[in-house]
Amino acid sequence: MRRMEWVIAGAMLIVLVGLSVWRVLAWYEGPYESHLSRLELEDAVPKKQSEGDYVSSRDCRSCHPQPYRAWHDSYHRKMTQLATPSAMVGGFDDVELSWLAPPRKPGGERRLERYRLSERDNEYWVTVLNPVTGAPGGEARVVMTTGSHNHQILWIQNGDQGELVNLPFTYLVDQQRWVPRTDSFLSPPEDPFGLVYWNEVCIECHSTAGRPRVGQEAGEASDTKVTEFGIACEACHGPAGPHVEANQSPLRRRLQRDEADPNIVNPARLTANRSVDVCGRCHSILSYAGTDSWDGHWNDFLPGDKLESDGRLVLRPESRDPSMRRVVAGHVKAEGPRFLRDRFWKDGGVRVAGRELNDVKASPCFQGGEFSCLSCHSMHGYEDTEDQLAPQMDGDAACVQCHPKFEGDASSHTNHAVDSVGSRCQNCHMPYTTYGLLKAIRSHRVSSPNALAERATGRPNACNACHLDKTLAWTQAHLVKDYGMKPILLGKERRLVAAGPRWIATGDAGVRALAAWYMGWAPAQKAAGSDWMAPYLAELLGDRYSAVRAVAGESLNNLPGFGDLEFDYVASAGEAGVESRLRVQAEWANQLSDKGMSLPGPLKLDASELDRGAWEELMKGRNMLPLALTE
Ligand code: HEC
Ligand code: HEC
Ligand code: HEC
Ligand code: HEC
Ligand code: HEC
Ligand code: HEC
Ligand code: HEC
Ligand code: HEC
Repeated sequence: MRRMEWVIAGAMLIVLVGLSVWRVLAWYEGPYESHLSRLELEDAVPKKQSEGDYVSSRDCRSCHPQPYRAWHDSYHRKMTQLATPSAMVGGFDDVELSWLAPPRKPGGERRLERYRLSERDNEYWVTVLNPVTGAPGGEARVVMTTGSHNHQILWIQNGDQGELVNLPFTYLVDQQRWVPRTDSFLSPPEDPFGLVYWNEVCIECHSTAGRPRVGQEAGEASDTKVTEFGIACEACHGPAGPHVEANQSPLRRRLQRDEADPNIVNPARLTANRSVDVCGRCHSILSYAGTDSWDGHWNDFLPGDKLESDGRLVLRPESRDPSMRRVVAGHVKAEGPRFLRDRFWKDGGVRVAGRELNDVKASPCFQGGEFSCLSCHSMHGYEDTEDQLAPQMDGDAACVQCHPKFEGDASSHTNHAVDSVGSRCQNCHMPYTTYGLLKAIRSHRVSSPNALAERATGRPNACNACHLDKTLAWTQAHLVKDYGMKPILLGKERRLVAAGPRWIATGDAGVRALAAWYMGWAPAQKAAGSDWMAPYLAELLGDRYSAVRAVAGESLNNLPGFGDLEFDYVASAGEAGVESRLRVQAEWANQLSDKGMSLPGPLKLDASELDRGAWEELMKGRNMLPLALTE
């Protein structure tokens, strides 16, 4: 080779080596920094440590790539995460937040609190500001997040006590805004507001095999541990150490195909009764009073066990069985008089989101058959991460699989055209009577529309959830004629006032929120028409409950002509709410003269306004009992 070629080749080699060293350095610097930062985070949150037969989701991936992927995409995994950029959903770009914090104790004073959020090199910091001068005071780093797709809550360290306490603001993902935590729940504004510690309560359902180990003596640091953050494989399949061990042998792996493995729980192989308990451990109503916060919680419950043996499950509060009544009375005594009202309808139906077990167990389908969460949901073969339903299970197939006589054209049963929304099984048998996360959610108790249940419990009936412009008497007449039901006696309002306006005027805060949600729901707008709804929704813009204002504002934005209505539900209690109401009602009256709309029910129009006298009269019957429906 000629000398010149040697020189060129040498030069190229030097350039190549130089480039790769530079690449490596550049690469190293980035990950090195975030690695350090990650270590700091891991130091600040509860320890991740597998004990006993627990291993971790990482140990499953190589043998179960598909189930792993499905789980990795799920909200279960994302429930609890370190506060790294991939976990954060809220804006952090020098955001300033302030609120009038409610009293910490009944009868106390409200206090102005101000915070600034800022991001520095992928770290998220909260600075406390002086409420008067705005001068920066102490600051704390956000170390962990809860939630990823509806609401997100952030956690900071509580001094050196080893506990995490929440920032009192919640990020609403749909609305892309921060709101005070109290404005993300349906609760009376005067309810006392306490700080929340992740380690004591949230850990139970938001981590895998969490051990609270919260300071035994006052002032003592906590030593909280989890197997994994979020809801990972072993939360549903049980400790998997022996299973991993046994399957190291390729021979066994081959023989094992499609056989049940005694070392691991597959919920699909359990009876319905045990299978629902796997999920119900988190998706059910529990009582926390008297729980031991050191070793407490459900370390003892493992998938496959019977949940009812745990004394904390609050099942069938409406039961007439004396022993059940004693158990429930015990919970009420420990938790306070509002415990049942804040969670259940009077017949034991669940009012709050995320607590499906109680309703599934109360369904006739469960009591008479193998009905479980897996009749409709699949944790690895779902269609959409939202709701994780198995293919087609958001439709009639979910019911027809066990009730084949309704296969095909069920219109003789439903009395609506085959393709009408009024013919979908779930719309009549799993209506939206559960509330949570600022929206209505389907009840998980299979039931049939029935005037008696509404009269007895106040829970909206499925027919009027769509036919908002019709009275309960109208519904009852159809139920008698079409389904042979026995009529019951109905009072004046239920005979004369359309259900939508009646729920808004007389319902408790939870019923008002549901009624407001129905008015924004396409099937109800189709059944009842939407032109008349605005003045009623406007009545809720000044509601005492901020969640009711929130839902009403959303639904108003869904009505023709009110799409760009400016309305901030957080800021519109009291006077501001009245102003918004008048503004919307005036706007509606304008539109009215063009379209010739009319109001349903007895609320006759006086040219362009609601008959206020009749409305105020109706409002006198409102259910004013304080109600908190928290997640
Ligand atoms: C070394 C390979 C291997 C590892 C690691 C492994 N598994 Fe398995 N697993 C298998 C084999 C083989 C089967 C049986 C064949 C099949 O159904 O695919 C199985 C079956 C299962 C089943 C179904 C059991 C049944 O009775 O239907 C579940 C659930 C399961 N594994 C969960 C896990 C979890 C959770 C982890 C991680 C903690 C894990 N596996 C780790 C090999 C493994
Ligand atoms: C008994 C079990 C349980 C406990 C205890 C619990 N949660 Fe939850 N949480 C759930 C379930 C189930 C859901 C899902 C609800 C749904 O989607 O309807 C949920 C959802 C949420 C969400 C919405 C998540 C998202 O991605 O939008 C937030 C925020 C939340 N919980 C906060 C908390 C906080 C804070 C605590 C502790 C004070 C707590 N939860 C305690 C079971 C629980
Ligand atoms: C929230 C509960 C839950 C979590 C978390 C979960 N699974 Fe499952 N798993 C189930 C259920 C329920 C089934 C039954 C089939 C279904 O629903 O898709 C199942 C079935 C399985 C099966 C057997 C059937 C199949 O699809 O091959 C394997 C293997 C499995 N899971 C592995 C895992 C692994 C690995 C993880 C974690 C990466 C995990 N699971 C996380 C609930 C869960
Ligand atoms: C260790 C507690 C725990 C267990 C066990 C558990 N879940 Fe969950 N589940 C949660 C929490 C917490 C959420 C809220 C996650 C979110 O929405 O960000 C949730 C959310 C869900 C969601 C809603 C996702 C969405 O779209 O909002 C479904 C559906 C669900 N779980 C079904 C099940 C089923 C079925 C099982 C049993 C096979 C089960 N879960 C077991 C705690 C649990
Ligand atoms: C008959 C079918 C069916 C059964 C059985 C069922 N679900 Fe659901 N589930 C649904 C449907 C449909 C939705 C969507 C509801 C909606 O649009 O509000 C849903 C939604 C959910 C959600 C999300 C609620 C939200 O935030 O929107 C959770 C959590 C959930 N189911 C848990 C469970 C659990 C746990 C069980 C068993 C104890 C169970 N489900 C049994 C059909 C079912
Ligand atoms: C896993 C099977 C299964 C699924 C899925 C199922 N059911 Fe059922 N259902 C049953 C059984 C079994 C009974 C009790 C039969 C009896 O008592 O005659 C029942 C009872 C009922 C009843 C009460 C019957 C009565 O005479 O009071 C209604 C209504 C009902 N189911 C509707 C539905 C609807 C709507 C769905 C879908 C959302 C559904 N079911 C899903 C199995 C199921
Ligand atoms: C328009 C409302 C409506 C729709 C839609 C509807 N049902 Fe019904 N269903 C009722 C009413 C009302 C009853 C009567 C209950 C009674 O007599 O107590 C009933 C009763 C039932 C029963 C118990 C009595 C019987 O005939 O076996 C079952 C099972 C049932 N429905 C299943 C379904 C299925 C499956 C679908 C979807 C294909 C469906 N329903 C759709 C209103 C409806
Ligand atoms: C999910 C929404 C929905 C539910 C639930 C529903 N309907 Fe309907 N209904 C409609 C719609 C939409 C129409 C208009 C025609 C169509 O599209 O089918 C209608 C039409 C009707 C009609 C004929 C038109 C009228 O206004 O006189 C009657 C009667 C009726 N429904 C009664 C009922 C009864 C009784 C129930 C409960 C057993 C019920 N509907 C439940 C949506 C619903």
